Amino acid sequence: MNKELLDKVNKRRTFAIISHPDAGKTTITEQMLLLGGVIRSAGTVKARKTGNYATSDWMEIEKKRGISVTSSVMQFEYEGKRINILDTPGHQDFSEDTYRTLMAVDAAVMVIDSARGIEPQTKKLFKVVRQRGIPVFTFMNKLDRDGREPLDLVAELEDVLGIEGVAMNWPIGMGQTMKGLYDIANHRIELYHPADADHRFLPLNEAGRLDPDQPLADDPQYLDTMDEIELLEGAGTEFNREAVLAGKQTPVFFGSALTNFGVETFLQSFVDLAPAPAAHVVNETETLAPDDDEFSGFIFKIQANMNPQHRDRIAFVRVCSGEFSKGLDVTLARTGKPVRLNNAVEFESSARVQVSEAVAGDIVGLYDTGNFQIGDSIYAGKHKVEFAPLPEFTPELFMRVSPKNVMKQKSFHKGMNQLVQEGAVQLYRNYQTEDYILGAVGQLQFEVFQYRMKNEYNSDVEMTSLGHRVARWIDPDQLDPKMSSSRNLLVKDRFGNPLFLFENAFAERWFHDKYPDVKLTEKL
Ligand code: G4P
Repeated sequence: MNKELLDKVNKRRTFAIISHPDAGKTTITEQMLLLGGVIRSAGTVKARKTGNYATSDWMEIEKKRGISVTSSVMQFEYEGKRINILDTPGHQDFSEDTYRTLMAVDAAVMVIDSARGIEPQTKKLFKVVRQRGIPVFTFMNKLDRDGREPLDLVAELEDVLGIEGVAMNWPIGMGQTMKGLYDIANHRIELYHPADADHRFLPLNEAGRLDPDQPLADDPQYLDTMDEIELLEGAGTEFNREAVLAGKQTPVFFGSALTNFGVETFLQSFVDLAPAPAAHVVNETETLAPDDDEFSGFIFKIQANMNPQHRDRIAFVRVCSGEFSKGLDVTLARTGKPVRLNNAVEFESSARVQVSEAVAGDIVGLYDTGNFQIGDSIYAGKHKVEFAPLPEFTPELFMRVSPKNVMKQKSFHKGMNQLVQEGAVQLYRNYQTEDYILGAVGQLQFEVFQYRMKNEYNSDVEMTSLGHRVARWIDPDQLDPKMSSSRNLLVKDRFGNPLFLFENAFAERWFHDKYPDVKLTEKL
């Protein structure tokens, strides 16, 4: 055990924020960056989101659409801890990148709009988080507006997501009537409109109540809250750190990101309760401790052309053990080839700076000339380290694709192969005609693909939408090509495995009725 390294690792908190678009992810991220002192005024992150960001060099398409195409990394110091927030695009057109980012974090923060409750995209992202078994911290946002009953919101976590919610604080009023938060975890009341900064918190007595001479002590909202607190206590859901760390229970915090209410309390609790980087699974049976002396990490994302002038390509590495230093010699596990990591950057808010120090939990950006692929493991030292492969996510949208100019087949194939390898889109071939079919989890992946084919490989592509499809794999022994029709198109994946692309769930049911003995499988 390396004590000095372990101390550094234990200071890391690496997480992603998951939410449905408009729940307030950007706003809360911004408040956290303000608390961390990396930005000085609100609106900075927002400006990036709306494409109005002076120092940005994001992809052209990102600027045009005013959205974040690919996830980025923000890091800052807070209360002696080094925080790494991995951003996941909040737009409806999210992509596999969003999912893969969740492979590189140790915890997730789930932001829910308290007027809307759990929305579809939150559900999708939660499913991935759940599979990883990492802790989830819930922030019920927009308390400054009238929303749903807090008890309902917490119950919904269990009913819809199947995770037990345990309240860490409870609203006193809501919208116009909001007075503050009853802070169960810290045994105090946090006022929404304190007389001044020194009077933000009111202490509770032994019985967990305000003394009668305290402000708010006979406020109707406060009295209602006390009734609800009694109900909560009666319900018997108790905070259990083990259950939180195992992803079985989620601590629930209420607040309002926009008015910066409850965010600081949330961040403090999060930093305290969220886990430091833990051991990573390697070689499917062994694990590797984060304070192992030798450096190791895996690539979870590759972003090309972040700066169009330089045609650069950055591979994002999640460090899993050891310490990164400039010029480090590592081995690329997939090829066994040595690579010297000369040009590496880390991400301070908007700027990229040369890496000073990176240990387990940190994210390093490597300038790449085409060596790396998504899912690659790199390691220093003699002992081979290969992390468990990143999961592939079943696409939901499909496109038929061909080169516009048949004379330019070569650049079409080159671009196609490289972008597929990078994991930008999934490639399928029609079982009979060998036509190319692309699959993605979000529409935007196609747009980025088309744009990059033109700009990086000089290949104009023709795309015809096949729309939403339900992908289901079939055992090749059970396959009869006659089973294919336009409503259940037979294709093969890039490993040659056959699957059907069903037009909808109805078409799938029809298939099951017609071929009751045929077993179909969903990957994720
Ligand atoms: P996202 O990244 O999850 O997509 O959400 P974002 O933070 O951009 O917030 C979506 C909208 O919700 C924004 O309003 C934002 O100001 C608002 N919002 C976020 N947190 C709160 C909150 O605690 N209370 C209230 N009342 N609103 C909140 P917008 O009108 O879309 O943008 P803008 O006019 O503020 O720029």
